[in-house]
Amino acid sequence: MSYQVTIQPSGHQFVVNEEESILDAALREGFTLPYGCRNGACGSCKGKLLEGKVDYGKYQENTLKSHEITEGKVLFCVARPLSDLVVEAREIRAAGEVPVKMLPCRVQKLEKLADDVMLMQLKLPATERLQFLAGQYIDFLLKDGRRRSYSIANPPYDDEFIELHLRHVPGGRFTDHVFATMKEKDILRFEGPHGSFFIREESDKPMIFVAGGTGFAPIKGMLEHMFAEESDRQMILYWGARARKDLYMAELPVQWQQEHKNFSFVPVLSEPAPEDGWQGRTGFVHQAVMEDFDDLSGFEVYACGAPAMVDAAREGFTGSRALPEDAFFADSFVYKAD
Ligand SMILES: Cc1cc2nc3c(=O)[nH]c(=O)nc-3n(C[C@H](O)[C@H](O)[C@H](O)COP(=O)(O)OP(=O)(O)OC[C@H]3O[C@@H](n4cnc5c(N)ncnc54)[C@H](O)[C@@H]3O)c2cc1C
Ligand code: FES
Repeated sequence: MSYQVTIQPSGHQFVVNEEESILDAALREGFTLPYGCRNGACGSCKGKLLEGKVDYGKYQENTLKSHEITEGKVLFCVARPLSDLVVEAREIRAAGEVPVKMLPCRVQKLEKLADDVMLMQLKLPATERLQFLAGQYIDFLLKDGRRRSYSIANPPYDDEFIELHLRHVPGGRFTDHVFATMKEKDILRFEGPHGSFFIREESDKPMIFVAGGTGFAPIKGMLEHMFAEESDRQMILYWGARARKDLYMAELPVQWQQEHKNFSFVPVLSEPAPEDGWQGRTGFVHQAVMEDFDDLSGFEVYACGAPAMVDAAREGFTGSRALPEDAFFADSFVYKAD
């Protein structure tokens, strides 16, 4: 049986299906409530039950004390509704509200998506989950004290594993290791989440996403988050790469386009290979946007990828295309000066 939950003070509503916790359902529908471990051990998800009945689920005794239950407190990560509910909870809307953690993790999966692109999945210790906003990134902490940043490619509701898309930089300290010697089950350490590249949900402007290569990673997480939330904002993704094989997951945005009428996908190749038989758009990805839009004054743009692409997009869009400076959001894959 499913029940409806209303969050106060926002008034947001969502449905909790059988076998789901209140937190699982809220995240699935795109409402970001605070959480940490997602298994009743840390207390981060504690909120108040204002109306209705719940099964409190399994949790550690010192996380939810009996007097707190009397006061109406509940752990949303393990509690399941037994009726329609009204709950009081704080919804997270800004990166500063998300705790930054330093955590060990295990490499769960390494899969080559293209000659120079690796999908990496990370598994956290059983008692930990990483709370983040779609589009943020983590920093690996290397043994020699250096850091390397990678954008999170999964949306917050689907957080069993952290997904990353890494491009091999030949001669690169970290990515050489990833492509040559790293193995599944290896242990790494990271800090995160970081960054302000996340969707401004208070806006209803149409959005243009511009990805260069593995700049698709955070944009994938953002779009999956928006689809889960059933947002009706217009969204267009321009994804630029050299040749067809470099659009390493193109079937995914093609599928999104079939499933969501407010989303469209424009792949752009700068150097299509003869065997690609490419009939689509060519050139630089930011130029394709500028060819399609004379006036961006009513839009928001989310751009991610190599610094040259991000800089060219910012300059072109806020210049001749009248995009307001504060409507351009970007993560630029600048490399660290060690
Ligand atoms: C916020 C943020 C998010 C990021 N997210 C991602 C991501 O999701 N996926 C991803 O693949 N990368 C991402 N990066 C880039 C990533 O952090 C590393 O810079 C990159 O993987 C290279 O690391 P490395 O240790 O292999 O190379 P390094 O040892 O740092 O580099 C070796 C040399 O290669 C050259 N070099 C390094 N990087 C580049 C480059 N990008 N282009 C041209 N030359 C370069 C430089 O000359 C450098 O001295 C992100 C960067 C930032 C800042
Ligand atoms: S108790 Fe840790 S997230 Fe619920």
